[in-house]
Amino acid sequence: MQLTLVLHNILRWGILLFGLWAVINAITGLMSKRRFTGGDNKSGLLFMIFCDIQLLVGLVLFFGNAWFDKMKAGMGDVMKNGYDRFFTVEHAGMMILAWILVHIGRAQVNRAATDTAKHKKMLLFFGLALLIILVSIPWPFRAEVARPWFRWFN
Ligand code: HEM
Repeated sequence: MQLTLVLHNILRWGILLFGLWAVINAITGLMSKRRFTGGDNKSGLLFMIFCDIQLLVGLVLFFGNAWFDKMKAGMGDVMKNGYDRFFTVEHAGMMILAWILVHIGRAQVNRAATDTAKHKKMLLFFGLALLIILVSIPWPFRAEVARPWFRWFN
């Protein structure tokens, strides 16, 4: 499970990088009224691929690291404990919501008829997803649920 946790920690940086790249592309695309390029498409695609892999790794942690067992043992105790509630309900739930938004956004971008519409959809869906991801990460400065910036094998 240590390998899975290291992977989950590192993948987070890929998600933030590609998410930010996609959102910046959407903003500059809208401001300069430029065409929707292959680069724009690639940034959104990489953001989605990294979110997909992170979801799978997250599910392995969720079921493999006894979080699910804790929920089965009793939701009452989980909800009373801020740390357990964060990882089982808040973190997992919000990240799945962000993942859904990324997938809807990707479909909407592909379906949009004009370049401006593609930039707008990308900004709306990917921007919202990135915001949800940012506030749902157990950053080292979040006292109760703090996790390291980087994790390695120990
Ligand atoms: C964009 C999506 C996600 C990001 C950026 C993200 C990020 C993170 C980070 C940074 C940690 C702390 C890692 C560490 O301690 O070094 C973590 C822990 C965790 N994440 Fe995620 N996560 C995402 C999605 C998910 C999903 C979808 C699930 C489950 C369905 C999930 C389940 C977990 C669990 C259970 C832990 C605690 C692992 C443990 O210590 O046993 N994550 N996540």
